Amino acid sequence: MQAAKHEHWSSGFTFLLAAVGSAVGLGNIWRFPYVVAENGGGAFVLIYLAIVVIIGIPLLMSELMIGRSSQKPPLAAMQSFGGSKAQKLWNAVGWSYLLVPMGILTFYSVVAGWTLDYALGMGIGTFNNLEDGASASMFQELLASPVKLIFWMTLSIGITVGIVARGLKSGLEQTVKILMPALFVILVILVLYASITGDFARSFAFMFEPDFSKITPELVLMAAGQAFFSLSLGSGAIMVYGSYLTRDISIPKMAVGVAFADTGVALLAGFAIFPIVFAFGVDHASGPGLVFVTLPIVFNDMGGIGQIFGVLFFMLLAFAAITSTISLLEPMVAQLSEEGRFKRARAAVYCGAVLWTVGVFVALSNNILKDVHPLGFLPLFEGKTIEGVIEFLSANVFMLLNGLLVSIFVGWSVKRSVTLEEMGLGDSMLFKIWFLLVRFVVPLGVGFIFYDVVL
Ligand code: TRP
Repeated sequence: MQAAKHEHWSSGFTFLLAAVGSAVGLGNIWRFPYVVAENGGGAFVLIYLAIVVIIGIPLLMSELMIGRSSQKPPLAAMQSFGGSKAQKLWNAVGWSYLLVPMGILTFYSVVAGWTLDYALGMGIGTFNNLEDGASASMFQELLASPVKLIFWMTLSIGITVGIVARGLKSGLEQTVKILMPALFVILVILVLYASITGDFARSFAFMFEPDFSKITPELVLMAAGQAFFSLSLGSGAIMVYGSYLTRDISIPKMAVGVAFADTGVALLAGFAIFPIVFAFGVDHASGPGLVFVTLPIVFNDMGGIGQIFGVLFFMLLAFAAITSTISLLEPMVAQLSEEGRFKRARAAVYCGAVLWTVGVFVALSNNILKDVHPLGFLPLFEGKTIEGVIEFLSANVFMLLNGLLVSIFVGWSVKRSVTLEEMGLGDSMLFKIWFLLVRFVVPLGVGFIFYDVVL
């Protein structure tokens, strides 16, 4: 059978919609605000911004380059450069670029499921007239319910498979063309409302006036992990999206665009949440529950209009999640359908079945399997549930390791003539800065982070 044809984005703009869609997700709207709040506000934001510029943008360019230059899905892309003595290592990195997104997807689709549950719940008024403490117990109830968790996870995997099965142009592009503008409009409405009615001044000071004494090694690690996850780095997502780029599009411009938009949305999410959280005097450093426990209380206190904003907010989260889950499924599906003997739709369904099976165990680690610690005998995995192990391996260990190895690959193994041509910057100052960052700064920086997180 002939391998499936390699498609291309209709334009640089549709690539941007899709890549920003991949980057903008639960990481920006759910995780970023609570991590900022837990890590001292402005100090965290400042370090985060520095890491996006120094490590994030050079790595985005590197991953886009590998994809575009090879015109192949991640594993085949890494194999296609060839000729290196370390080729076995690069092949392994290719595998890792396929498997990390699958690992992330198993827990990401469970959390995406929560957002669907909350969007519906807000719509039908489940969160109206909340008694004291009811919001926290409703969130606990969701986590304690295997049926609910598995139902919503199944739906989010189903939606993702349905989109990816249709292919690049009729699946992914059509989806991001609708969801990304919708996401943007909802976000602007929420930010305007929160800034006008809430405590904008305090939120601004909280996010942009750093208290330098709060900068610690742990804060730097948290910021780096958040930046990697938020920019979809160290996994096949950006690489496979890069492989659908045509030659006429500027990789540096696209990378800067993605980083800029992703960071902008994370900051805007802060301005949609903190002003109302401050104005209503609820705890802003409540951790992962900030969005799922604290916000429903605030929406409830707002009265009638709160329900509308509640629905909008959780729709925003759900849209952001879906444009990310499709980018997490795409690398493996593209690899299986372009390089293997599977039709795309079949590959998507098979991947979905594997994800669902593992996802069930992940969902159940919130309740029935809460006390199962699969690798608990190893110090590194002590106390981690099934979910915890998968998340740690995919979103910490291998995501960082991938970024580290790919910067070495691009900086030291790929021919300079290839990188020069792909970047399209000529042998300019900008190219030299990028090359310097990729050769030295990124590997050393990520190596340091990796050492601290994992070893
Ligand atoms: N960046 C997305 C977010 O912030 C999640 C995501 C999509 C991702 N693709 C990825 C994370 C690849 C890591 C790797 O929610």
